[in-house]
Amino acid sequence: MRILFIGDVVGSPGREMIQQYLPKLKQKYQPHVTIINGENAASGKGINEKIYKQFLEWGAQAITMGNHTWDKKDIFEFINDARYMVRPANFPEDTPGKGLLFVKSNKLEVAVINLQGRTFMPPLDDPFRKADLLIEEAKKRTNIVFVDFHAEATSEKQAMAWYLDGRVSAVVGTHTHTQTSDERILPNGTGYISDVGMTGPYDSILGVERDAVIKKFLTNLPVRFEVPKKGRMQLNGILIDIDNKSGRAENVERILINDDHPFFS
Ligand SMILES: [Fe+2]
Repeated sequence: MRILFIGDVVGSPGREMIQQYLPKLKQKYQPHVTIINGENAASGKGINEKIYKQFLEWGAQAITMGNHTWDKKDIFEFINDARYMVRPANFPEDTPGKGLLFVKSNKLEVAVINLQGRTFMPPLDDPFRKADLLIEEAKKRTNIVFVDFHAEATSEKQAMAWYLDGRVSAVVGTHTHTQTSDERILPNGTGYISDVGMTGPYDSILGVERDAVIKKFLTNLPVRFEVPKKGRMQLNGILIDIDNKSGRAENVERILINDDHPFFS
């Protein structure tokens, strides 16, 4: 089983990169399942139904979310019907949507789990104990379990990966929008990266217009964060090869496309 995961798609530049490069990435790497983090896909904050459906049309089989899940009001209209979307599972009981889904590929199934960290983030239920419960549920159907851990602190991401080592196929970090170069396979077979990075404006600060962010640091006054519409773009992702039977990761490879790291087909 080969999974392609693409990190936080930011606004229209991010969506353009998906449309342009996902077919090329699929051609080159032949993934069985493609997963996109879409929590920033609508103008940097949240997602709407149109974009969710576009991602599926363009070739994704699952969309993961994060702290911006609820930023577009539209989400409440469609999340319960969005079969291929997961939002962080450790929101309180009765929150709309779900945190675990199963994607079929030939005769195999991949369980996709989304969790959100609590360090330097709004308080939520315990993602570690929620992971225990969801993994137990997932393992009734498949050994291939993929976790998108949407968190700020690298320590919390590493802790989650080591806590789940040997119980899931992969823990990939999202949210901080900068790809880390610490991809590896932990001793008991869990593939890991602290952060996959983001897909969207390259000459930006984490996907946001630079001037506004710099002004914020200089003045500490309220500023409006916008996603730059023009300029150079990037795509960040990760490829994970998993043994079908054991669910252990066998290879982890970062994907980085930008003007400094051009794509070769
Ligand atoms: Fe986020």
